[in-house]
Amino acid sequence: MTQDDELKQIFHSGWTNPNVVSHRVERFIKGEFGFPLSRTAWLEVLRQSVPGEARRKIADMGTGPGTIAQLWAELGHEVTGVDFSATMISAGQAAAKERGLTVDFVEADVEAPPFPENTFDVISSRAVLFTLPHPGYAVARWTRLLKPGGSLVLIGENNPTDPEKLKRQYRPAPGWEPDEAYRRALDKLPFRSHTDEMVRVVMEAAGLRNIRSMPMQSVMDARSEHEKQDPEYGVLQGTPYVLTGQRIEDMEG
Ligand SMILES: C[S@@+](CC[C@H](N)C(=O)[O-])C[C@H]1O[C@@H](n2cnc3c(N)ncnc32)[C@H](O)[C@@H]1O
Repeated sequence: MTQDDELKQIFHSGWTNPNVVSHRVERFIKGEFGFPLSRTAWLEVLRQSVPGEARRKIADMGTGPGTIAQLWAELGHEVTGVDFSATMISAGQAAAKERGLTVDFVEADVEAPPFPENTFDVISSRAVLFTLPHPGYAVARWTRLLKPGGSLVLIGENNPTDPEKLKRQYRPAPGWEPDEAYRRALDKLPFRSHTDEMVRVVMEAAGLRNIRSMPMQSVMDARSEHEKQDPEYGVLQGTPYVLTGQRIEDMEG
């Protein structure tokens, strides 16, 4: 087994753990993205992150329980959520059904996604680059899956600067503790603690153009309101970012 395979296997064991899956469902599907004000704010940011109003063919990479895939479906797009965790996918199927949304799921490694080039109008990914051994290859490959004119939408959080918030942000899922091998594997991840500026550089290197940071004030305002109602929830957050870039020409050129 190569060192990469070994790393993937370690992370796969974490991301398939039922406690990790239910934690993500509670914290995001039912938490932030289930809080109506936040859901509306995120829907609007996503709507504005891709040009035009047409129905798009979208892939959400490392979709987990379909957190972002659900929003694309709610906006009327045709969406496929890709994840290597069968348990995350089951949770995503259940969550989409509950809301009456149509999301297709594909179980696959997002560093080697099983799609031909020029397939999607939009590719999104939220909170995934940090857990990949090769985030640069992933972004380059996702870019090639876009049709010319298509958009890559990368979503994440810049870490809180308040050390108390930072400490509390990384509580593991209740019922799951990373073992020694997992902790060592985390240290091998180049984007474990990345910023939006680093993501921007990787997007540029992949040949994307028109890279924009979406305004996030409405999401932050919704989080403040959420925090007022549930102080434990709000303290977990950093500062969200959404970066979009376009594939504007034939990537061979
Ligand atoms: C932090 S969660 C984010 C889930 C979702 N995007 C969200 O915003 O809630 C990271 C997700 O990436 C998936 N993942 C990690 N490495 C992967 C890989 N190499 N291939 C496919 N999925 C991967 C995990 O299974 C997990 O669902």
